[in-house]
Amino acid sequence: MLLPTLIFTLFAFSSCLKLPPSFQKCNRKQPDLKECLLNAAQNGLFQLGRPILRDFNIPSLNPAKVVEATISSGTGPVQVEQKLRNCEIRGLPLGRLDTFDWDFDAKSMHFGSFFSEVNGRCEYDLDGKILLLPIRGTGSAVVLMTNTTLNADLRYEEVKKAHKTYANFVSSEVTADPGHVYFHFDNLFDGDKQLGDNINRLVNENWREVFDDVRDGYIEMLSRIFLQYLNNLFSKASLEELLD
Ligand SMILES: *[C@@H]1O[C@H](CO)[C@@H](O)[C@H](O)[C@H]1NC(C)=O
Repeated sequence: MLLPTLIFTLFAFSSCLKLPPSFQKCNRKQPDLKECLLNAAQNGLFQLGRPILRDFNIPSLNPAKVVEATISSGTGPVQVEQKLRNCEIRGLPLGRLDTFDWDFDAKSMHFGSFFSEVNGRCEYDLDGKILLLPIRGTGSAVVLMTNTTLNADLRYEEVKKAHKTYANFVSSEVTADPGHVYFHFDNLFDGDKQLGDNINRLVNENWREVFDDVRDGYIEMLSRIFLQYLNNLFSKASLEELLD
């Protein structure tokens, strides 16, 4: 473990290198380009979870950090705005990419993926109603999504810098369909255990209705993470460097 770390570190300091050499390259003209891109993307996603990338100034995707987010009130059972802070989302680099399409002319990417476990932990602050009952509290919350099918459509613009072309991602449309979602809010009602346990139980008994009502808020958060990490990666490596 020490040796690769040392080499990577030296490499990072000795040049203005952008991406680790362990990122796979594909050739636009190779007959199995689609397969090559799928493998490269899968491999790249996995590497994003490894702390070694810090040497390249690429923050780890495990956990992905979101400093602040607001999940708006739903139109159904969730009549409460969730203010979230210091979120850490784990499990994204372990996703399985089932499809990956990169359309160079349309400047778009599409991927279809499956995540067996994505675990978000945030500090929360909420005061409103859920399933017609009052809910109020501040503390730490966990949202665990399992067996999630996730599709994303990404669009980018090409930016020229020093005779090289960089992709700047401008939009991300995500759909997420979890097999199950588990919620837990710590310290509801100033730590009243009985009230807190009741609400947590009720929320979990009705997890699908609850999730569906605030799905857009969670998806927005995932979209932001994808854009942030993609732009970080693609601002370091030009398209010429990524593709032959
Ligand atoms: C996820 O899917 C697997 C395989 O279909 C299943 O065995 C498992 O129970 C599921 N997990 C949850 C928490 O739904």
